[in-house]
Formats: sequence, structure tokens, C-alpha cells
Amino acid sequence: MTSQIISLTLKNLKKIWMLREIPNISEQNAEFLKQLIREKNPKHLLEIGTANGYSTLHFSTAISDISDITTLEQAWNMHNDAVTNFKNCKIKNIHAIWWDAKLVLPKLAENFFDFVYIDAMKKEYLQYLLLALPKMTPDAMIVIDDVEKFRDKMEDLFDYLDGNRVVYQFEKTDIDDSIMILYKKDFLSIWE
Ligand SMILES: C[S@@+](CC[C@H](N)C(=O)[O-])C[C@H]1O[C@@H](n2cnc3c(N)ncnc32)[C@H](O)[C@@H]1O
Repeated sequence: MTSQIISLTLKNLKKIWMLREIPNISEQNAEFLKQLIREKNPKHLLEIGTANGYSTLHFSTAISDISDITTLEQAWNMHNDAVTNFKNCKIKNIHAIWWDAKLVLPKLAENFFDFVYIDAMKKEYLQYLLLALPKMTPDAMIVIDDVEKFRDKMEDLFDYLDGNRVVYQFEKTDIDDSIMILYKKDFLSIWE
């Protein structure tokens, strides 16, 4: 029953997204990310950039019943829409936090999240990443969205990764865009 409500809500959100031009992930990207999540089977997933909860709802269908999602959004109207959507879908394992991720991240538990998905303000990606790293478990997987389409807005992120020889891979998710996949373990040598 819950999964039917979620898929109906996702269909409705897609119509709204097209009308209001909310920058939700594409269906193709959602399917790719869900496959990654199923393979990783995270206990605690962190999303930075909830918008109306479209991607979060997709992710909720790919995690186990005992796992949870924490999702951060700074725009009150978006956060509010997302919370309404989660309630309508009767999902309890999503913790939606309204505020600037740069201020919320330092307050989250250390060594906790094993899957982190970044999809908020492109020019702040490096800041989110550095603030989120201590919050991740050593085996955490990190996924960063829009790295092809908006690469010019995240040059500092690439400079940091390349400068510290952090390994990352690109996966094509849309005709004009890719996600970046990297692992917390590849940052550990920077701090040794
Ligand atoms: C691309 S949208 C997220 C789309 C969403 N992941 C989806 O696919 O359904 C980016 C969101 O990040 C939010 N955002 C931007 N800067 C932020 C910040 N510093 N902290 C939290 N959220 C932020 C924006 O308000 C916007 O709703």
C-alpha cells in the first residue's frame, strides 16, 4: 500500500516539477541512484538538498525497513512540501531538517552516515563535503550530483580532490550530466 502511495506521489510530483521547474533529479538518474543504494544497503543515508522530497521518496523505496534517511533543505517552502509528501506517504524513517546544511552538518552525529548524496547549491559542494566527512563511517560512499553540467560552479571541489589525489569516478546518468562517486576511505590518507 505504502509503495503504491509513493509511486502515485512521485508521478504527481513529476507533473508539478515540470510546471514549476523544480530541479528534481531525472527518472533515469533516480533509477541509477536507487541501484547504487540497493547495492550499498546503507543504514543511515544523508541527503543534502531535499527540495520537495522527490529524490528522498525515490531513495526511501531502495533502503531497508530498518534504515533511515536524514535530508537537509534550507528553503522553508520546499522543506514544508517535502514533509507533507513524506507524511502523505506515511513514511516514518525520513528525518527532514530545515536549515542551511552548512550550519546543520556540524551538529550531526560523528561517524554515522554510510551513504551521502549531495545535490544542493553547486558552488558550496566542497564545503558540504568537508563538513560531512567527519559524519561518515569509514566505509561511506559519497555521491555528488550534476558534476558535468555545473562543473564550472565547483572548480574548488575538483581542485581539492585532484590536489589531494583523491580517487573519484564519473557515471553518466543523463544525456548532459553525470554523478561523481567517491569513498570516505580515500580521504583518510590526507589526514594521516
Ligand atoms: C537541485 S535541488 C534538490 C533536488 C532534490 N534532491 C531532488 O532531486 O528532488 C537543490 C536544493 O538545495 C537547496 N539548498 C541550496 N543551498 C542549500 C543549503 N546551503 N543548505 C540546504 N539546502 C540548500 C535548494 O533550496 C534546493 O531546494
